[in-house]
Amino acid sequence: MLQTLTKEAQLTEEAHRLYGLLKSVSKEDGSRWTYEDCLAAAPYTLSINQFKKEKNAVILAHSYTTPDLVYGVADYRGDSYELALKARDSSADMIVFAGVWFMAETAKILNPHKKVLIPAGHAGCSLADAITGAEMQQLRAQYPGVPALCYINSVAEVKAHCDACVTSGNVFDIAQKLPGKELIFVPDLLMAKNLEAELVRRGTPKKIIAAGGSCCVHDKYQPHDVEKLRAQYPGIKVVAHPECPIEVCRLCDYVGSTKGMTAYVAGSDAETFGMLTEFGLVNRLEAEFPQKKFVWPFGVCRSMKRNTLQNTLEALIDPRPEQVVEVAPAVAAEAKKAIDKMFELAQ
Ligand code: 13P
Ligand code: SF4
Repeated sequence: MLQTLTKEAQLTEEAHRLYGLLKSVSKEDGSRWTYEDCLAAAPYTLSINQFKKEKNAVILAHSYTTPDLVYGVADYRGDSYELALKARDSSADMIVFAGVWFMAETAKILNPHKKVLIPAGHAGCSLADAITGAEMQQLRAQYPGVPALCYINSVAEVKAHCDACVTSGNVFDIAQKLPGKELIFVPDLLMAKNLEAELVRRGTPKKIIAAGGSCCVHDKYQPHDVEKLRAQYPGIKVVAHPECPIEVCRLCDYVGSTKGMTAYVAGSDAETFGMLTEFGLVNRLEAEFPQKKFVWPFGVCRSMKRNTLQNTLEALIDPRPEQVVEVAPAVAAEAKKAIDKMFELAQ
């Protein structure tokens, strides 16, 4: 009886902790996280945090995953660059990466001897799926001597054929540092346009040879989405991810990575922000800046949302084969060179 009461008290305390963090966070249907939602999450967050200690695991969560993961169990939350750094520098025995496959794969490449798990299993990304290693190899053969950058949203086989990889937070700076007037950039055709324009703006133009596809979340935004936000909310600041079309980015007040957008909001006096990015970042900003208003027209990455408290717990206890990240050692060794080059050039 005493034990039951203690367990109940623990759950109540955990639900209050979660509710304190999530009460200003919205759900896709427009409602907010409730105390009852937090009470339902509490058994999972308590168990996950317990297993995490027992297994000396670290949980890394991308900002686009759900807020119960981001605030309930993650040791680190952030953009793809920050999380790659955390993975590289982690002293944990096990890395649990709540994100999409290419992110967990990057963590494995940086930690070939550690167990790296992804709760969602093979959660894809329309960008990473847009070009194969063989196609990248062909592109390099077609343009000999031209430096090649790949966005981190690419598979290990593509990274293995590139000089360096980049993230949305450092793509402009790294591209500017590379020699020559031409540059291969994969696999985001829309970011390639933004990159080309930014290099012109900086006075260091380059011809970008692009291949690949687009992000199925960010490529949906249109100039009229920005115009509508401005008409509806006078004084609004509109921010976008560089995976959005250039016609949209040109109309925005700020364009940058998920970390960059967060820093922009933190440093702005505006009260209302239009968010042309994935819903999870909106949730993070709602949690961290409850006094500000965030208007989100649409945009959900279903792959990111495949990570749940339940499959995180299952992965920690007894991972299913699809939750265990493996990369062929020869590919990993080559891909690591491109990732390490990014760390070097991002300094
Ligand atoms: P960030 O590096 O800005 O977190 O972007 C990752 C991503 O997948 C955006 O869609
Ligand atoms: Fe890939 Fe787009 Fe999802 Fe980011 S939001 S992981 S780019 S599909």
